[in-house]
Amino acid sequence: MNILVTGAAGFIGSNFVFYMLKEHKDYKICAMDSLTYAGNIGTLADVMEEPNFSFCKCDIADKKKVFDLFEKEGFDVVVNFAAESHVDRSIEDPGVFLRTNIIGTQVLMDASKEYGVKRYHQVGTDEVYGDLPLDRKDLFFTEDMPLTASSPYSASKASADLLVMAYHRTFDMPVTISRCSNNYGPYQFPEKLIPLIISRALDDKELPVYGTGKNVRDWLYVEDHCRAIDMIIHEGRVGEVYNIGGHNEKSNLEVVRIILKNLGKPESLIRFVSDRKGHDLRYAIDPLKISEELGWLPTTMFDDGIRKTIQWYLDNKDWWLNIISGEYREYYDRMYGNR
Ligand code: NAD
Ligand code: DAU
Repeated sequence: MNILVTGAAGFIGSNFVFYMLKEHKDYKICAMDSLTYAGNIGTLADVMEEPNFSFCKCDIADKKKVFDLFEKEGFDVVVNFAAESHVDRSIEDPGVFLRTNIIGTQVLMDASKEYGVKRYHQVGTDEVYGDLPLDRKDLFFTEDMPLTASSPYSASKASADLLVMAYHRTFDMPVTISRCSNNYGPYQFPEKLIPLIISRALDDKELPVYGTGKNVRDWLYVEDHCRAIDMIIHEGRVGEVYNIGGHNEKSNLEVVRIILKNLGKPESLIRFVSDRKGHDLRYAIDPLKISEELGWLPTTMFDDGIRKTIQWYLDNKDWWLNIISGEYREYYDRMYGNR
């Protein structure tokens, strides 16, 4: 099988490449990435020389380049991770989110249609369901819920999902969509909550917690997400959406406290800052469909996953120290300076 993985130099895309090369030694994997601030070619260094792996620097919205690659490679499966993925950045500057997340998806689907791709898989997010109230622990996101996005990021991801389903209905394209909850694990860019807290706590720096810190996210170890996508592209039903999440709900403050405890750092580092605009209160996935249909269940629980993740950041300081200079430092000052 010949698989195109877009956004492969980012957090989940790179973990998916490693997972697929380990699980399917006879598959060809082509990694595509335009290497934005969030993409890091160094992340893929260990697999660069693998005979069944190749890398192509390409913007998914660049129609000519994308079509040329599809014509040359004849992909069987496309898994689209490429996206602008950070909510805070989408609040600051929505334009690039619309271009990459919507137009880029359209270009990839047009190429998949033109060159007869057998499965197009769109990596979506639970944020397209909006949010749930904090005081209704009985409510969960199910696949049939209406899409109601809160941020420009989630609006762009919801648009992409709608486009994918429209291509299925109109052009009979063999598509699937997954909508996953918050991921954590190795190689996550340190602008996201967990790696931001780990990297700053290690430096004894203030830890910005938005609003009250009571907002809840449903955390999933990245390898569990990769395994779910592997199952969907092989056994998922065409035209279906699958939610992915493992009932690992935690408030942001709980997450920060767990990290501090693991690192032996004091809670006095926590600084409450002004809230994110439009901040979603609670995400919680109902994974019944994927577990009943495909037998997927998460295998890494939060206590274990967060220990492994912290250890990874301790063991791979060069990876993130490289990142938290230059543009990142300017971004941090801009985003957190006056909060
Ligand atoms: P990330 O920001 O770490 O990685 C995104 C990658 O896409 C980067 O390598 C970047 O260079 C690349 N990219 C951006 N624009 C591109 C373009 N125009 N052309 C080609 N490549 C481009 O993001 P992530 O956290 O790994 O998320 C990957 C996907 O999973 C996204 O679609 C995101 O919406 C979705 N998702 C993420 C989470 C999460 O918790 N991180 C949860 C659910 C779904
Ligand atoms: O639910 C899936 C989504 O999870 C993905 O689609 C997104 O790509 C991914 O970035 C993530 O979105 P969140 O906005 O939930 O993740 P983030 O790490 O930015 O924030 C997690 C929570 O922590 C959120 O409630 C905001 C809060 N937060 C975040 C940062 C960066 C803070 O309190 N302080 C911070 O400095």
